Formats: sequence, C-alpha cells, structure tokens
Amino acid sequence: MQATSSQVRKAVITVVVLSVLGVLLVAAVGLYRSQQTPPQPLPFNHQVHVQKVGLSCLYCHSNANKGQSAGMPTTQRCIACHQQIEPTTEGERILRQYAENEESIPWVPVAIMPDFVYFSHQVHVNANISCEQCHGEVGQSTIAPSLTKKQNMGWCLACHQNQPQERVARLTSCEACHK
Ligand code: HEC
Ligand code: HEC
Ligand code: HEC
Ligand code: HEC
Ligand code: HEC
Repeated sequence: MQATSSQVRKAVITVVVLSVLGVLLVAAVGLYRSQQTPPQPLPFNHQVHVQKVGLSCLYCHSNANKGQSAGMPTTQRCIACHQQIEPTTEGERILRQYAENEESIPWVPVAIMPDFVYFSHQVHVNANISCEQCHGEVGQSTIAPSLTKKQNMGWCLACHQNQPQERVARLTSCEACHK
C-alpha cells in the first residue's frame, strides 16, 4: 500500500513535533538540575550552628580573612563538639562515621568562579564587607546554600564602581580580576 501525501505529511509533522518536545525536555531538565542544590555528604544546618549555638562564620570558614578561599571546616572541628553530643539525627550519625574512619568530609562547593577570574576572600573580608553582603543570610538557613547565578562580572563591577573615587580605576581594570 502506498502512503498518501497527507499521511506522509502527518508522519513528518509528528517526528518534528516529537523532536522539538524532546529538545525542550532535555533543556528543561538541564535548567532544573543547574538550579538544584548539589547533594552534600550530610545535611548541614547553618541556622542551628550560627543562631542557636552562636558560632561565628570564621569559626568554620577560618581561611576567609587569611587567604583566597574561605575554606571548609575539618572533621576534627565538627567532632570536637559532637563527640560530647549524643547523635539523634541521621546527619550526626554520618558525621560520627567520618570521624571514626578519620576521613575528611567531601563537601561539594557550590559558588565557584571560573579559573580565569581572580577572587580573594581576604581583601574583601578585611575591607569589612560582611559575608551576608555577598552570600545572603546563610546563617538563617536550614538547608545547604544553593547555586546562584548572581555572582557574575556585572555583580563584581557594580560594587567596585561604588568604591571611593581614587580606587575605582584600579578596581575596575581588567587586570584586577583577570590576571
Ligand atoms: C560548638 C559546637 C559545635 C560545632 C563546632 C559543630 N556542631 Fe553540629 N551541633 C551542635 C549542637 C549544640 C547541635 C544541636 C544538637 C541538638 O539540637 O540536639 C548541633 C546539631 C548538628 C546536627 C543536627 C542538626 C539538625 O537539625 O539536623 C548536625 C547534622 C550537625 N550538628 C553537624 C555538624 C557538622 C557537620 C559540623 C562541622 C562542620 C558541626 N556540626 C559542628 C554543636 C556543634
Ligand atoms: C559549624 C560550622 C559552620 C559555621 C559556623 C558556618 N558554616 Fe558555612 N558551611 C559549613 C559547611 C559544613 C558547609 C558545607 C555544607 C553545606 O553547604 O551545607 C558550609 C557552606 C557554606 C557556604 C556555601 C559554600 C559553597 O559555595 O559551597 C557558604 C557561602 C557559607 N557556608 C557561609 C557561611 C556564613 C556566611 C556563615 C556565618 C553566618 C557560616 N557559613 C557559618 C559550616 C559552617
Ligand atoms: C565580596 C564578596 C564576598 C564576601 C564578602 C565573602 N564571600 Fe565567600 N565567596 C565569594 C565568591 C565570589 C566565592 C566563589 C569564589 C571562588 O570560586 O573562588 C565565594 C566562595 C565561598 C565559599 C566556598 C568556597 C571557598 O572559598 O571555600 C565559602 C565557604 C564562603 N565563600 C564563605 C564566606 C564567608 C564565611 C565569608 C565571610 C567571612 C565570605 N564568604 C565573604 C564572595 C564573597
Ligand atoms: C560588595 C562589594 C564588592 C563585591 C561584590 C566585590 N568586591 Fe572586590 N573589592 C571590594 C572592595 C571594597 C575592594 C578593595 C579593598 C581594599 O582596597 O582595601 C575590593 C578589591 C578586590 C580586588 C583587589 C584589587 C586590587 O588590586 O587591590 C580584587 C581582585 C577583587 N576585589 C575581585 C572581585 C571579584 C572577582 C568580585 C566578584 C566575584 C568582587 N571583587 C566582588 C568590594 C567588592
Ligand atoms: C571586579 C572584577 C572584574 C573585572 C574588573 C573585570 N572582570 Fe571580566 N569577569 C569577572 C568575572 C567574575 C567573570 C566570570 C563570571 C561571568 O562570566 O560573568 C568574568 C568574565 C569575563 C569574560 C568571560 C565572559 C563569558 O561570558 O564567559 C570576559 C571576556 C571578561 N570577563 C572580560 C573582561 C574585560 C575585558 C575586563 C576589563 C574591561 C574585565 N573583564 C574586567 C570579573 C571581572
């Protein structure tokens, strides 16, 4: 049996529609996943530690005023407290496990600059810019910080342009951030 031209046209349209839907689906899944918080080795709760326990950001991210990266706390830093706290949650049990195995906890970084960008926490923290100004109210959050598209070149430049006039030229020159 020979297909009529209208049957052929229908088949072609169906294939085109299905492939367009396929592409859209792949794009939607990609977008969804890029906005998801990456899974962490255990659910860490900033609010409990910052607001209830009263720890400062630098207690755990202790390189933030000394070097380029803020740094993540060692297992030892966590367990110093938690060896005295009976674990009642799954997260605390996982923490104990890492400590007993003397392993460091493989936290997954979310805010990462591309290699061709130079950023240093030290200069900013020592210029009295608060962590919250750049990262938001992390200390009030009960879930892991998520990916944000906010920290792009325009964002850096907007703040650098607002600095005292005599510093603006240096802070907005390409070489400041692209060495
Ligand atoms: C200065 C002490 C201290 C340090 C340091 C500390 N914790 Fe805690 N943590 C606590 C206290 C107190 C609680 C609350 C316990 C409770 O409510 O039963 C807690 C709660 C938790 C919980 C359960 C919270 C929840 O609501 O699910 C987890 C998981 C946890 N801590 C992991 C960590 C990890 C990981 C580190 C290191 C990055 C760490 N803690 C460092 C004192 C500390
Ligand atoms: C008890 C230790 C502890 C304290 C105190 C703490 N943090 Fe954290 N922070 C962590 C751990 C562990 C992670 C990684 C797990 C996660 O993202 O939930 C983290 C992740 C982060 C991240 C995400 C980093 C990235 O890009 O991957 C930011 C930003 C951050 N903390 C900022 C802060 C700020 C701001 C404060 C103070 C208001 C603070 N933290 C206090 C332990 C701590
Ligand atoms: C001027 C803006 C700015 C300030 C102020 C700032 N950060 Fe960040 N932070 C960033 C940027 C940008 C990144 C991504 C850096 C990279 O990929 O090199 C980052 C990354 C991080 C990370 C994950 C990677 C790492 O460096 O270990 C943590 C944790 C963090 N910041 C914590 C803090 C804490 C705690 C403070 C306050 C003591 C703070 N930050 C102050 C902009 C800032
Ligand atoms: C909220 C304001 C603010 C934001 C956002 C910010 N900066 Fe800065 N930055 C400053 C200030 C203020 C200084 C100057 C500190 C000083 O001179 O003491 C500075 C200094 C620097 C320097 C040192 C420049 C030099 O030659 O001394 C670099 C590099 C830099 N910033 C990179 C970045 C990058 C990259 C980003 C974005 C990822 C960024 N900054 C976001 C406020 C900011
Ligand atoms: C205050 C810091 C800062 C300064 C000054 C700065 N940049 Fe950037 N630049 C960034 C950051 C952060 C990124 C990466 C994030 C992004 O793509 O927006 C970037 C990305 C770029 C990219 C890649 C864009 C892309 O889409 O991949 C180019 C090209 C670039 N910058 C050129 C320049 C030139 C040229 C200058 C001087 C006129 C300059 N930048 C000055 C911070 C800066």
